[in-house]
Amino acid sequence: MPTYQRFGRLPRKRHIQFRENGTLLTEEVMGLEGFVGNESILYHLHSPCRVKEIADFEPLERAEWTPEGHGHRHFRTIGIEPGGDAVTGRKLLMWNQDVEIYLCRPSEPMNFFYRNGEGDEVVFVHEGKGTVESIFGDLPYREGDYVVVPRGTTYRFVPEGEQRYVVFSSPGLIEIPRRYRNEYGQLLEHAPYYHRDIHPPLELKTHSDRSEHVVKLRIKDGHQTYVLDYHPFDVVGWDGYVYPWTFNINDFEPITGRIHMPPPTHQTFQGRNFVICSFCPRKLDFDPLAIPIPYHHSNLNSEEMIYYVSGNFGSRKGIEVGSVTLHPSGIPHGPHPGLAEKSIGLTETHELAVMCDTFHPLRLTELARELDDPSYAYSWYEEPAEKAASSADEDPAGVTSHL
Ligand SMILES: [Fe+2]
Repeated sequence: MPTYQRFGRLPRKRHIQFRENGTLLTEEVMGLEGFVGNESILYHLHSPCRVKEIADFEPLERAEWTPEGHGHRHFRTIGIEPGGDAVTGRKLLMWNQDVEIYLCRPSEPMNFFYRNGEGDEVVFVHEGKGTVESIFGDLPYREGDYVVVPRGTTYRFVPEGEQRYVVFSSPGLIEIPRRYRNEYGQLLEHAPYYHRDIHPPLELKTHSDRSEHVVKLRIKDGHQTYVLDYHPFDVVGWDGYVYPWTFNINDFEPITGRIHMPPPTHQTFQGRNFVICSFCPRKLDFDPLAIPIPYHHSNLNSEEMIYYVSGNFGSRKGIEVGSVTLHPSGIPHGPHPGLAEKSIGLTETHELAVMCDTFHPLRLTELARELDDPSYAYSWYEEPAEKAASSADEDPAGVTSHL
């Protein structure tokens, strides 16, 4: 999506004869929004319709947890067990009609290829590196990367070493925010990242072997398995605007101000009724009267999910690396007692976090119940004696700047 790319061999014009060893290749236009959105054109050795077997269909199952009371939530995710591969190992934590949010610690290789036929995906790589092998070519990834995979992309993760991801999947498009782009698609000077920070696949590899390969397709709220008699990465060339890419969170240039800057300044992606934001290490507000941490706020038609990636969260009660907080709609949230006062005079924050704000309420799963810290909702409540003790003990160095 970010810019036009071309890989491999292509004919002089689109929709004309293109042959390999005398055989006509199969041209496929992979396009979004009918024929008016972005598209890529791929040239295959085989018809991409060719299937040997339409095998099992497995519907998705979501075990919903409905907490008894409506309050702020904290989930400790650092201890979740590794398991499965980069797709089957995804564990759903929360979702709504616009976005699904999964945790994933894959420990097994993918022995199949995957294609999300009804959603765009963003995989935030908290830990690990490897390669996403795709029909568009090999895409290396590393710690801190957002791996952006448009719908329709056939791929598999080939991880190297320990891995930990947060996965966002949406039936809507996940895009670079419109306000960061000019009418031609170029990133504007005020955008917090530029085209050089966006990494398309490195290398296209064309496979011509005719052995059996399994492709699992996410469709109709389930997974359809197909068996092919050829390798699905049979593309000799492609060009266009639709392909997987990476952007590293450490390449996000934070925007700071004299007084507190609101979350939209941290926006990284736009989705249908949600946004994904990156909170990166940065200088804090510099007005002599500034309060560097946020004011209390009521997100009346929004829910705020934050995943804490790294940094010192010592002054945020109970929060640790891998914590997820959910500040739901309808009730205010803000800094813990005493923290606003303690933050005055701080000049920088070293925290790294990923936030997903949704405009519709998020539903929780049984996994959320297992990871739930029920004391979090009461962490703004203090008895007078406790208040005195906490003001003496708290270390403001790990100020959380993005509540
Ligand atoms: Fe907030």
